[in-house]
Amino acid sequence: MEQIFSTIFQKFEVLKVQNEELFELLTKTTQLLHSEVSHYNWVGFYLLDAQKNELVLGPFTGAPTDHTHIPVGKGICGQVAESKKTMIVQDVTEQDNYLACSLDVQSEIVVPILKNGLFVAEIDIDSHAFAPFTKQDELLLNKIALQLAELF
Ligand code: SME
Repeated sequence: MEQIFSTIFQKFEVLKVQNEELFELLTKTTQLLHSEVSHYNWVGFYLLDAQKNELVLGPFTGAPTDHTHIPVGKGICGQVAESKKTMIVQDVTEQDNYLACSLDVQSEIVVPILKNGLFVAEIDIDSHAFAPFTKQDELLLNKIALQLAELF
């Protein structure tokens, strides 16, 4: 898995050089992660609208979701916007503050993108697998989040 994740990061770095426009890069990053990691069934970005104190859905790959706007503090996504810390939920049925996108989703990881210490966006990944996330997922997504932060 470690090798696969390091190859994915290399592919992301190529995308970053090739795509100067932020939304293009975000879109291609969701496609890359979705296609390369079998337990990533929905991959998307939420961006902070600071004035409204809510998250707005950005580029994503996977089934359409009703959650296009999420108040800060609500759901797993909203909690990460508040805490600025990665959240791994290996079993979504155990999370009270959770917004269900689909009944197929069993687990979720959300990684914040911080610009100069401020929350600007996040990577959200839903999985149909139970407890699939390891330290390797967190490391890969954190590295990608750090690279993307430069572009916000
Ligand atoms: N499950 C998320 C909502 C977004 S969907 O996963 C796309 C949450 O609880 O915040």
